[in-house]
Amino acid sequence: MAKILVVGNGGREHAIAEKFNNENHEVFMLGQNPGVNKFGKCIDIKEEEISKFCKDNKIDLVFIGPEAFLVDGLVDKLEDKGIRVFGPRKNAAILEGSKAFSKDFMQKYNIPTAEYEIFNDIEKALEYLKNCKFPIVIKADGIAAGKGVVIPKNYKEAKNSLEEIMLHKKFDNAGNTIVIEEFLKGEEFSLMAFVSGEKVYPMKIAQDHKRAFDGDKGLNTGGMGVYMPIKNISDTDIEEAMEKILIPTAKAMLNEGREFKGILFAGLMKTKSGIKTIEYNVRFGDPESEIVLQSLNTSLYDISNAIIDGKDIEIEWNNKARVGVVIASKGYPEDYKKGYEIKGLENLTSKIYHMGTIEKDGKIYTNGGRLLLICEEDDNLENAISKVYESIQKIECDNIFYRKDIGHFSLK
Ligand code: AMP
Ligand code: GLY
Repeated sequence: MAKILVVGNGGREHAIAEKFNNENHEVFMLGQNPGVNKFGKCIDIKEEEISKFCKDNKIDLVFIGPEAFLVDGLVDKLEDKGIRVFGPRKNAAILEGSKAFSKDFMQKYNIPTAEYEIFNDIEKALEYLKNCKFPIVIKADGIAAGKGVVIPKNYKEAKNSLEEIMLHKKFDNAGNTIVIEEFLKGEEFSLMAFVSGEKVYPMKIAQDHKRAFDGDKGLNTGGMGVYMPIKNISDTDIEEAMEKILIPTAKAMLNEGREFKGILFAGLMKTKSGIKTIEYNVRFGDPESEIVLQSLNTSLYDISNAIIDGKDIEIEWNNKARVGVVIASKGYPEDYKKGYEIKGLENLTSKIYHMGTIEKDGKIYTNGGRLLLICEEDDNLENAISKVYESIQKIECDNIFYRKDIGHFSLK
């Protein structure tokens, strides 16, 4: 039995902590999560106190969930203090930390992606937009919690977005540099892999639903729901993504002196001209990991050790259909109110992951944009979807919304 500290306290980290707990390890979490609190120890310490905490408590492994810690170099800081930690170092986390870096990197190594230009001057960006075909995609260079991408339909909308991002600093300094790229048409999917140098172990694919509302309407969010399997993505598509995107990325990072160890997440689009990369992330997806980890039969602790040490490992998966629906605060991904009591969770038999809730005196309250992920599994996707929506009816809470069409692409 090992002692593991999970950094981060959202739904993804709840799922990571649950997996380690199922493997009979002792789990600690940095931050509070009402779900994890039932089986692990949630602690409130500052980032600077992590290494002392690990030494005092003889922690065997630190597993980092959120990108911000990775991009800021928490792995480097802990490793330098002799602590065993899972995740890419800062010089590799830049794949997610800077979209301008990742676009230039893909271009340099011929990794398929959308055509693009990079700007840090709004006048030049506006000039460029005058001759563009719409819709077009505008991305803040830095990290913005999955919300830093807008897809304007015409010049006027594009100008407004650029002003919000570059002049009014909607995403703070993350928007000082922006990428403008070609709008790709096709079906999206998330392919994550455990990567250690040149070794790339793919996970099961899942499909996230990024837009806030049914029918893929509304703003981009961190993800409103997820499911697997995906009817329209074949094994050949996955092989193509491995051969043209994930394996070349791992090799190219080595070539750049930025060895990648951790989870490489490729957001992909199956287009008429092949699979293309929409983005890289350098950690588990949220909500993808909640269902992907349920499909993982092998010990996550063993995998983490193999990745850190660069050793070979065999990874086994199960084949259930799975779906997860995000319950969010009304207003998300923009402004929303917090503090509404969530009742009825004890009546659900579905798996529940806490994404943004807080517990006070035994009661659960809303405390974020994305609040809960409700998950179901079955041998067949349609049944899993019916079960999850039936289950959600039992939740009582004001000021929430959720998408009613998660998984729709694969039911058509
Ligand atoms: P990203 O944060 O880069 O993954 O972008 C968020 C979401 O915006 C993606 O999941 C896509 O749904 C959409 N998106 C990003 N880039 C493109 C693109 N070039 N073409 C079409 N949709 C895109
Ligand atoms: N669900 C997409 C992400 O984790 O970035």
